[in-house]
Amino acid sequence: MKKLRYALIGCGRISPNHVAAVKQLEQDLEFVAVCDIDNANMQNICESFALDQLGVKRYTDYREMLEKEEIELAAIATPSGEHAAIAAYCLERGVHLIVEKPITLSLAEADGLIELADQNQLVLCVSHQNRFNKSIVKIREAVESGAFGRMLHGTAHVRWNRSQDYYTQAPWRGTWEQDGGALMNQCIHNIDLLRWMLGDEVTEVFAYTDNLHHSYIDAEDLGLAVVKFANGAYGMIEGTTNVFPHNLEETLYLFGETGTVKAGGKSVNVIEEWLFADASEDAEAVKREYGENPPNVYGFGHLPLYRDVVAAVREKRPPAIDGRAGRRALELVLAIYKSAAEGRPVGLPLQECSTLDFKGRFDESNKRR
Ligand SMILES: NC(=O)c1ccc[n+]([C@@H]2O[C@H](COP(=O)([O-])OP(=O)(O)OC[C@H]3O[C@@H](n4cnc5c(N)ncnc54)[C@H](O)[C@@H]3O)[C@@H](O)[C@H]2O)c1
Repeated sequence: MKKLRYALIGCGRISPNHVAAVKQLEQDLEFVAVCDIDNANMQNICESFALDQLGVKRYTDYREMLEKEEIELAAIATPSGEHAAIAAYCLERGVHLIVEKPITLSLAEADGLIELADQNQLVLCVSHQNRFNKSIVKIREAVESGAFGRMLHGTAHVRWNRSQDYYTQAPWRGTWEQDGGALMNQCIHNIDLLRWMLGDEVTEVFAYTDNLHHSYIDAEDLGLAVVKFANGAYGMIEGTTNVFPHNLEETLYLFGETGTVKAGGKSVNVIEEWLFADASEDAEAVKREYGENPPNVYGFGHLPLYRDVVAAVREKRPPAIDGRAGRRALELVLAIYKSAAEGRPVGLPLQECSTLDFKGRFDESNKRR
């Protein structure tokens, strides 16, 4: 089968996960080029993975790269505020895409990308790779088999630490223009999982957000939200980057009439509770078999995500995590921001909302500290 000509745009912190996945798919992908406006970052990734030996070319302008290289599949791992423009440029030129999360920072931009992908019959995948954790795949099977009975409620906790260094390394982080705060950046994976597992259709959100401990960023470092689902279930979200002294846990609980599950570990990589009325599966064996211990919170999900995208391109079908899935996670985070800013419940669906709507929200309290 012909290999897809692949390029990576953005060679920063998450890029090794992309490159490692691509290197394992050498039967399917021809690694043609990398692109970054920062030569030092590009040099780093090329050196760490010996990309020059593979003949991977370097570009500092993605437009020039697309003009010269006939790329068929690209991954976008630039600051979040850059996703929309780069993705639209690629989709307009017939390039299938993997876009890092969040898909964009505004619903109008996400809608634009979804429409472009549909019109041009292109795969648009958003990198919510935790959906491919062994633990999450197993839990999703239980949801789809009906083992939980009616879903009653679920909770998503992200109790992590991000220090000043993390923000100094890349000043786009924590800004409303390029990122958002703990919920949009760090917690969106678990917010995606909670929404997906509890039935996707959300009717209302009530939330608080605040910046308590990171006066040098614009956006929130704590978010607390209650979510009402159309099927009658409730969700609760607690996300923070304030935990002393390091990442503690990312945990997802699901409570149904006939099932209780807890996925835990640093990033929902292990199953800690597995209790079902139908006890035909040995709970201890499930916990042993479906737990992983990745070296960092980004996990092992990029490789199966890439495999799915390659198959989606070949089979001309949507990827498992498509633009609409990315939009649902974005919409829920923006609804939380809106509810917290307005001090009232917010109904979904949201038509338009953007991180820019919340610019200045914590400036006064940050100045006082
Ligand atoms: N899926 C995950 O688990 C995960 C984890 C971390 C980050 N992310 C996402 O990945 C994206 C990148 O995050 P990061 O932490 O790697 O950021 P980073 O700042 O470490 O890296 C971003 C890179 O993009 C480059 N860049 C900026 N504008 C560019 C442009 N126009 N063209 C080409 N390159 C450009 C920068 O020079 C930098 O090297 C963000 O959207 C973030 O939310 C996802």
